Amino acid sequence: MPEAPVLTLRGVSKRFGAVQALADFDLEVHAGEVVALVGDNGAGKSTAVKAIAGVNPPDEGVIEWQGRPVSIHRPHDAQNLGIATVYQDLALCDNLDVVGNLFLGRELRRFGVLDEVRMEQRSRELLATLSIRIPSVRIPVASLSGGQRQTVAIARSLIGDPKVVILDEPTAALGVEQTAEVLDLVERLRGHGLGTILISHNMVDVMAVADRIAVLRLGRNNGVFDRRATTTEEIISAITGATESAVTRRQARIREEREVRGEGHGESYGEEGR
Ligand SMILES: Nc1ncnc2c1ncn2[C@@H]1O[C@H](COP(=O)(O)OP(=O)(O)O)[C@@H](O)[C@H]1O
Ligand SMILES: [Mg+2]
Repeated sequence: MPEAPVLTLRGVSKRFGAVQALADFDLEVHAGEVVALVGDNGAGKSTAVKAIAGVNPPDEGVIEWQGRPVSIHRPHDAQNLGIATVYQDLALCDNLDVVGNLFLGRELRRFGVLDEVRMEQRSRELLATLSIRIPSVRIPVASLSGGQRQTVAIARSLIGDPKVVILDEPTAALGVEQTAEVLDLVERLRGHGLGTILISHNMVDVMAVADRIAVLRLGRNNGVFDRRATTTEEIISAITGATESAVTRRQARIREEREVRGEGHGESYGEEGR
């Protein structure tokens, strides 16, 4: 990808008392790319997300936005740059309808009163753009399926027209059909040129939609893999720590392939971050 990444993290660290939650963490996200961030419980995924989202600023390190260093001290800073985060609990208001949720906290007004007509119209347009099928934008979100709720939460994050969207375990609570619905939406985000960071425990989901897979282990980078050039086993090895063998095997394989193609030796690719 020739363009500069829209979001870059370099050497980001965060400590909580005795726990080094994130250490020297690097990450790049390009426009139109889905980067999965995977790792065991406690690996530092949420800490990384909170650093990017301004919820818990890092102790050390640099965050660059479109190639320029930026400071993200509060959620507002991240939002202003164009970083949207969909947390696992979704924070939807069950009693409000879809329109009410999409525009929660940024209601459109006309002459000082809520402009329900325009909000409803924009809601329909947004959902249509994303091919999200909801029976009606005027029903309470409580009556929607888990998958539909997740798509509404993602749609809401797009209201401010962000360039990067962070999805924290968007399919964790969903069945197969609903998961497919959400993964379809993730692919559409890529189609719209957004950079997406997908936190997930589910390797099937990750292998289905990610372009690159960044592995965190004990707060550190443990490999960034090009999805088309890796296997689930390799990712799991990196997550669990059996990386030495997996990475060595992989490098050997890439070397072999290059030799077969007559390209000779060289650095392996798709593993920046190591
Ligand atoms: N607010 C906090 N206070 C103390 N320790 C924390 C806090 N947040 C996270 N941690 C610790 O930091 C490490 C990384 O946690 P986290 O980023 O939540 O991992 P993950 O999201 O990958 O499961 C864990 O050891 C966790 O217990
Ligand atoms: Mg977490």
